[in-house]
Amino acid sequence: MQELPNAGRFRALASRVRSFRTRMLAKKLPVQPVTWSEMPIALNAQARIGTVLRGKYRLESVLGVGGMASVYVATHRNRRRFAVKILHPQLSFDAEMRARFQREGWLANSVDHRGVVAVLDDDVSEDGSAFMVMELLEGESVESLWTRHGMLPLPIALALADQLLDVLSAAHARRILHRDIKPANLFLSSEGVLKVLDFGIARLREAPGTAFTQTGISLGTPSFMPPEQAAGSWSELGTDADLWALGATLFSLISGRYVHEGENAQAQMFQACTQPARPLASVAPTVPDAVARVIDRALSFQKRDRYASAPAMREALQQAHREAFGSALDASPQALSAWLQHQGVAPAPKKANARRPISLRRTLLARR
Ligand SMILES: Nc1ncnc2c1ncn2[C@@H]1O[C@H](COP(=O)(O)OP(=O)(O)O)[C@@H](O)[C@H]1O
Ligand SMILES: [Mg+2]
Repeated sequence: MQELPNAGRFRALASRVRSFRTRMLAKKLPVQPVTWSEMPIALNAQARIGTVLRGKYRLESVLGVGGMASVYVATHRNRRRFAVKILHPQLSFDAEMRARFQREGWLANSVDHRGVVAVLDDDVSEDGSAFMVMELLEGESVESLWTRHGMLPLPIALALADQLLDVLSAAHARRILHRDIKPANLFLSSEGVLKVLDFGIARLREAPGTAFTQTGISLGTPSFMPPEQAAGSWSELGTDADLWALGATLFSLISGRYVHEGENAQAQMFQACTQPARPLASVAPTVPDAVARVIDRALSFQKRDRYASAPAMREALQQAHREAFGSALDASPQALSAWLQHQGVAPAPKKANARRPISLRRTLLARR
C-alpha cells in the first residue's frame, strides 16, 4: 500500500505525543493542550522552515505553536535574529482576524514596560499570511519550566508573580486587559526578566464588543479563566479577571495542579463557569497560610471578593512573604536569573540551531 505524503513524520509526531502524555500522567499533571486535531497545524508550522518572508526573514526553527499562530526563530537578511509570529493560515483569510493580529503588536507596545515583549514590525507574507516581528527572547517559557519541574519552588513562583503584577499594573493603568494570562504566555528571559507574551485577545477596556469574541476562536484557556470569562460575559471582565488568571497561574505553578481538573476542555469550562476554585491548601497543604490566603482571594468566585487592582495584590503578596518567611520577597532579575542558571537554562544559545530547552510544544515539533 502506498504511504500518504508526510505519513512518516506524522507517525513520529504521534509517538512523541504519546510519550509526552505518558510522562505527564506519571507526574499526575493533567494532560491538556496536546490534541490530535493540533497535529496538522504542527506539521504545517514545520513545513515553513527555510522559507523567506518578504525577501527578508528566513524562518529557521519553530519556537512554539499556540492557538492562533506559530512562532519561529528567523534571521533577517542583515543577519539579526528575531522571533516571527505567523497567524495560522486558516485564520489569515479572515480580514478581521488579520486586523486583530496587527492590533496585538500595537497593544503590546502601548504598555511600554520591559516586561512586555517588544513588537517591531508587522506585514503580510507573499502567500497572504499575516505575521509580526518581535524581539527574540532567550530563556524559557514559564509553561516549559513548569512542565519540566511539575511545580516551582514557592519563592520563585512568588517572584514571577511579583514581576507579573508590575507589568499588569502598567497595562491596567493604560486601560489594557490581557485576558489570557497563563504559564504558556509568560516567558522568563535568561536575564531574569519576566516577559508577557500574546496580547492576541487583549483589549482596551472601553472598546465596544467586537465580532472577534463572537467568532468563538481563542477565547482564553479554561484552566486559567475566571467564571465570568468562561461564561462568555465579556462585558464583565475587569482588572480582577487578569488577577484571577494570575491567581490560577500561581495555584498551578505552586501545586502542580489546575484549579479545575475536568477531563477535557468542555468539562473544565463548565466547572470554571459554575464552581468556586478549591482552596490552595486542599492540594498544597504545606504552603504558608498567609500566601495561600492571597491566592485564594484572587481566585474568589464573586468579583467583589477579589483584589481590585494589581498594586493591591502585589502589596498583599509581599506582605504575605514577609509574614511567612520573615524577610522581604526578592523578585529581582538577578535572583531569577541565578535560579535559571542553576537549572541550566542560561546562558542563552547563540546559534539559530542551538539546542533550546524542551517545551511542551517543542517536544511536539522536534526537528526532523
Ligand atoms: N518573542 C519570542 N521569543 C521567544 N519565544 C517566543 C516569543 N514569542 C512567543 N514565543 C514562544 O511561542 C509560544 C507561542 O507564542 P504566543 O505569542 O503565545 O502565540 P499564540 O497566540 O499562538 O498562543 C510561546 O509560548 C513561547 O514559548
Ligand atoms: Mg499564547
